[in-house]
Amino acid sequence: MKSQDIRKKFLAFFEKKGHLVVPSAPIVLKDDPTLMFNNSGMAQFKEFFLGNGTPPNKRIADTQKCLRVSGKHNDLEDVGFDTYHHTMFEMLGNWSFGDYFKKEAIAWAWEFLTEELKLDKDRLYVSVFEGNKDENVPFDQEAWDIWKEFVDEDRIILGNKKDNFWEMGDQGPCGPCSEIHIDLRPDSERASVPGKSLVNADHPQVVEIWNNVFMEFNRKADGSLEKLPAKHVDTGMGFERLCMAMQGVTSNYDTDVFTPLIQKVEEITGLKYTNNEVKNISDEQNKINIAIRVIVDHIRAVAFAIADGQLPSNNGAGYVIRRILRRAIRYGFTFLNKKEPFIYELVAVLAKQMGEAFPEIAKQEQLVTNVIKEEENSFLRTLEQGLLMLDTMIVNLEGKQLSGSKAFELYDTYGFPIDLTSLILAERGFTLDEKGFEENLQKQKERSRAAAHTKADDWVIVREDEETEFIGYDILEAIVRVTKYRKIESQKDGTLYQLVFNVTPFYPEGGGQVGDKGTITSANGETTYIIDTKKENNLIIHFTQTLPSNLTDPFKASVKGRAFIEANHTATHLLHQALREVLGIHVEQRGSKVDFDGLRFDFSHFQKMTTEEIQQVERLVNQRVLEKLPLNEHRSISMKEAMDAGAMALFGEKYGDKVRMIEFGESKELCGGTHVKNTADIWYFKIVSEGAVASGIRRVEAITRDKVKDYFINLEKESQQLAEQLKTKDVSKAVEKLQDENAKLKLQIEHLLKEKAKNLKGELIAQVQEVNGVKCVVAQVALDAAGAKDLAYEIGATGENFYILLSTVNDDKPMLTAYISKEIVASHGLNAGQIVRELGKYIQGGGGGQPFFATAGGKNPEGVEEALSHALDFVK
Ligand code: ALA
Repeated sequence: MKSQDIRKKFLAFFEKKGHLVVPSAPIVLKDDPTLMFNNSGMAQFKEFFLGNGTPPNKRIADTQKCLRVSGKHNDLEDVGFDTYHHTMFEMLGNWSFGDYFKKEAIAWAWEFLTEELKLDKDRLYVSVFEGNKDENVPFDQEAWDIWKEFVDEDRIILGNKKDNFWEMGDQGPCGPCSEIHIDLRPDSERASVPGKSLVNADHPQVVEIWNNVFMEFNRKADGSLEKLPAKHVDTGMGFERLCMAMQGVTSNYDTDVFTPLIQKVEEITGLKYTNNEVKNISDEQNKINIAIRVIVDHIRAVAFAIADGQLPSNNGAGYVIRRILRRAIRYGFTFLNKKEPFIYELVAVLAKQMGEAFPEIAKQEQLVTNVIKEEENSFLRTLEQGLLMLDTMIVNLEGKQLSGSKAFELYDTYGFPIDLTSLILAERGFTLDEKGFEENLQKQKERSRAAAHTKADDWVIVREDEETEFIGYDILEAIVRVTKYRKIESQKDGTLYQLVFNVTPFYPEGGGQVGDKGTITSANGETTYIIDTKKENNLIIHFTQTLPSNLTDPFKASVKGRAFIEANHTATHLLHQALREVLGIHVEQRGSKVDFDGLRFDFSHFQKMTTEEIQQVERLVNQRVLEKLPLNEHRSISMKEAMDAGAMALFGEKYGDKVRMIEFGESKELCGGTHVKNTADIWYFKIVSEGAVASGIRRVEAITRDKVKDYFINLEKESQQLAEQLKTKDVSKAVEKLQDENAKLKLQIEHLLKEKAKNLKGELIAQVQEVNGVKCVVAQVALDAAGAKDLAYEIGATGENFYILLSTVNDDKPMLTAYISKEIVASHGLNAGQIVRELGKYIQGGGGGQPFFATAGGKNPEGVEEALSHALDFVK
C-alpha cells in the first residue's frame, strides 16, 4: 500500500467513527511560550484538554506535521544514525475531548491495525501503565482488562512512568498511556528471541507505532498533578513507521516516503544508498548512507518550516531551522563530497510527493527552493572561511594540539563543525583538545540556558470567571477585574507579574502587531503600568513590574498609544495591496511587524525594487489615504465567505471556521489586529528602506502620521545645514565642484607617491646588505600594500640574488611583503611563503603566497619591529 493511501485510510476510518478531520496545524507554534514547534498531534488542542476552550467537535482526527528538535522531545542528534528517528515526521492522531475513553480508543486502534490494514496480530505487543506510588497514580487495570479481550495476556507488557506516562512538556496535560509495538524481524529471528523481550529496548525492528494516551491530569509548575475537568483521549501513530510495517521493509528510509528523495540524491551525487537489507557494508558506504539519511530527513523539516512561514535566522525557531539545514549541508560536504549547493533540488521532489496532502509545500515550491539554495551558498562560504581560519591557526600552533577554545571559536563564529575540525587536524598530523572543546560548549549552553530561562509560579486564582474576552476592537478604556495572576522570574527581565482579566481592552501581541501598553488604576488612585500584553494559547496575559496592592478591586484599564499602532497596521494592509498591484500577485506576506514607531513588511519578490516602483507604491497607498476609505470590519464570517470575497490569508497561520476580515476599499485581509476607523487617520505614508532578508524575500520599512512629519522636518533641517556648510543654496552644484576638485587632487597624490617610491627605491638599493651572497633589503616603508608590492618588484628587477622584506602599517593593520629572486629560491632554499608565515607570528597574523613572493597580514602593529629584527635569520 502506498504511503498516500495509508494516510487516507486512517482519516477515512476515523471519519466513519464520527471524527471531524482537520488540517495539520503549522509546524511552528506562535502563541505557546513553552513550546517552539509542534512536537505532537495534541499540541494544537492543548487548551481543550485544560478546559480553556471548546473544540469544534468532540471527536477530531488529523495527520500532524511534527518536529522533535528542541525541548523535552529532541531526536536531532540521533537522526541519520538509525533507521527510525526523524526530525520532522507525521503523526496520525484521533482525539476525544471529554467524549469516548479507553474502551473505544483501544478497540478502534486494534480494529484499524488488524482489520483495515490487516497487520499480523502475532507481531503486535501492547503496553499498559504499571502505576507509580510517588505520583499516586495506580496500575491501569481498566486498560489491561480491555486489552485482554483482544490479545493474549502474555502480549501485554507493563510499563513504567518513563515509557507509559505521557507528558507534553514540564507542564501541561498528561496521563497514563498504552502503546502498540510491532515486531518486524524475520520469522527465524522471532523464533529464537521473543519479540516481547525487545519491546522498548531500542531495537530497530521492534518499534512503537501507536501511542494511546488517556489524559486525566495537568502537571503543575511545582511538579504536582491535578485532575483535569474531564477525561480525554489523545493518540499518535508514527506515520513513517506504519508505512515501514505496511510496505514490508525494515527501515523508514526504505519506504516510499523517502525513496524518491534518496533517488534524487543518488542522481545528483552519483553515489549509491544501500537499503537496510544489504548487510556487511564498508565503513565508507556506511558514512554515505548516514549522510543521505540525514539529508533526506532534514530537507523535510526545513522545507515545511519555511513553507509555514519560518525562515532560517539567527535566533529562536529560525535558528533551530538554520542549524538543521547546516547539519545536512555539512554531511553532504564531508561525506558526499558536495562543495556546491544541491539540497535545494530536493524541494521539487518533496512538493510532488507531499503536495496533495499538504498543499502549502506545492504552492510555495519556488520560494522554499530559493531560500534553501541561498542558505546552502552562504554556509558553504562560511565553511570555506572556517577552513582558512583553521589553516591560520595551524600555522601559529605551538606544539601539536589545537586548544579547545580555538576549536570553539571556529564552531561558534564560523558555525564550523567540530568533527570536521578534528578530521582536518588529524589529516595534518595534529590533534584536538576535545575535552577543552566540550567544556567551552558546556559553558555556552549554560549561559544561554540561564539567559532563556523563565520560571513561572502556578496561577493564583483571584475570582472564578469566564474566559477573558477581548473588547479592545471597540474601546480603549474599560473597568476590568483580575481573575488570576502569577509571578515569573526571567534571567532577562527579572521579576515580573502576569495578570489575567475578565475582560480586556489590551491587544495581545499577534499577527505581527505588538502587544498593547498602558495602565490600570484602582479606585484609590494606585496606578500600575502594563508593560506588555501577550497571548498564551487562549489566555490574554498582561505584564507588570509590580503587583497592585488590592487585587480584588475593580481597575480602570487604559490603553496608550494605540492610534500609532493602528495607523501602521492599516498602512501595512494598503502596502501589501499596492505591492501586489505594482510588482505582481506573486507578492505574498512573509513576515510583518507593526509597532508604535513604524512598520516592517517582508514579502516574496525576486529583485530589488527600483526607485520608481517604490514611489509608485507610496503613491498608491497615499491615494487611498486621501480617499478616506472607511474600515469595514467583518468580525465573524465563515472561512468560505471570506475566501469567496477574495480575502488574503497567510501560510503558517491557523484559521478556524469563523474568521475576521478587514476591508478598506479593495484591500481585504484575514486579520485579528486593530485598525484605524478611516484611512485618513494614517495622514501620510512613507517608505524609509527597502532591502533583502533572504533569497527571494524583500523587506520594506515604512512610517506614518507624526513620524512622517518628523521625517520631513528633519530632512529640511539637514538640507539647510548642508547649504550653510557649503555656503550656497545650490547644493548639488557645490557637490559637483567638490567631486571635481577631489578627483584632481587624487591624481596629484598618485603622481607624488610614484615619485616618492622612486626615491625610496634609490635609498633602499643604496642600503643593500650582503649576507652569504644574498642582497638583503629589510625596511619599514610608508606605503600601502600595492605600493609595497610594486616597490619590491622594482628593486628585484634591478639585479639578481635579492631578498627583500618590507613592512607596512595602514589603519593600524601591519603587513609583511617578501620578495626573493628566483635564482636563490632554489639554490638557497629560501621560500617567501614560509618566511612570511614564520614572521607573521610576531604581528599575530598569517598569510602565504609563492616561494618568490608572499604577503602576511596581521593584527599587532607593535610586533613589526620584532618581525623585521628576525628577517635576516633565514638568510644567515
Ligand atoms: N501525544 C502522544 C504522543 O505524542 C500521543 O505520543
